[in-house]
Amino acid sequence: FHVDWDLVQAEKGGYDSFMLKEIYEQPQAVRDTMGARIDQEKKQVILPELNMSDAELAAYDRLYIVACGTSMHAGLVGKDVLEKWTRVPVEVAVASEFRYRDPIYTDKTLMIVISQSGETADTLAALREAKKSGVRVLAITNVVGSSVAREADEVIFTWAGPEVAVASTKAYTSQVIALYLFALYFAQVKGTLAAAEIAEVVEHLQELPAKIGAILANVEPIRQFAQSIQDATSLFFIGRGLDYAVSLEGSLKLKEISYIHSEAYAAGELKHGTLALIEENVPVVALATQPDIYEKMVSNIVEVKARGAHVLGFALEGDRDLAKSVDGVIHVPATTPMLTPILTVIPLQLLAYYTSAARGLDVDKPRNLAKSVTVE
Ligand code: G6P
Repeated sequence: FHVDWDLVQAEKGGYDSFMLKEIYEQPQAVRDTMGARIDQEKKQVILPELNMSDAELAAYDRLYIVACGTSMHAGLVGKDVLEKWTRVPVEVAVASEFRYRDPIYTDKTLMIVISQSGETADTLAALREAKKSGVRVLAITNVVGSSVAREADEVIFTWAGPEVAVASTKAYTSQVIALYLFALYFAQVKGTLAAAEIAEVVEHLQELPAKIGAILANVEPIRQFAQSIQDATSLFFIGRGLDYAVSLEGSLKLKEISYIHSEAYAAGELKHGTLALIEENVPVVALATQPDIYEKMVSNIVEVKARGAHVLGFALEGDRDLAKSVDGVIHVPATTPMLTPILTVIPLQLLAYYTSAARGLDVDKPRNLAKSVTVE
């Protein structure tokens, strides 16, 4: 009697790729990252890992978020959320640019670096530059004992567990959760949000794992759309506000593993160039989950439809209108607007996965890319 034992296959836990496994681990990764950081009774955030006092934290009046790739995209969500809840200006920069800049620091500047691996060369270099200038650095990382974790002044760990697929999924959602927690805590100590407002967001946060689970239980519409675009040569993602930030991540995911050219555009900017590329049957993924800019977003969708685009729309559950303007709709569970990125990104990850799989590509190890880029 002989059993073929394939260690890698066993590690995939029944999934055909690490990426798919990691996509499905997101309810747990999100739950673990929130974990003990929420005071269940008071519905507040607690961050005992911070070494600085509340008064020290409250004094910061300017933030930089520095990272690469998907981690930088998590930072873009973090920027909007931090500015909304704390009214502190935040600049997001890619580490390879930031490290060679001459950034403006004051004694009230805090730098946040985000790195899944904690070993990305450019991110580490930016961290070191900032520290040399006397700036306090807070790291959000997934790897205990990594260079970033060791060298930063403050660390908030994401508890996503090991991520193997080159295309990052559960690390991103966990980073965004860490940023929500930090933003809420910062707002708490600054007094920019009332306790009741924080409690409301905390309740929405706690519902996210189940809502991600609900999305993962109904992947068929995404798989079908992926099949319809598998031979496309170019694809566009459009959105406004937080939807735009998520579009950038959706587009990166798709190009990384399917090798289809794709671009994300702030929908209002289409008319300044990209609209020229929209012609009959060009696939467009349009995110319309932000209530305050919904009407504007629909007008942009109508513009691309009028040029013949094949549009897959993203809307909140209960939205009956978007279907009238698009070719298909993916509904995501409703939550408070600031938290929707965590939900909209899941079908976008699945879209990249199913497209890559339909094209018969190696989902976990895309050509020319590495999981962790430790050289410049
Ligand atoms: C590489 C990976 C990406 C990742 C980026 C930053 O490009 O392929 O998935 O987002 O590095 O990595 P980090 O470990 O710093 O988050």
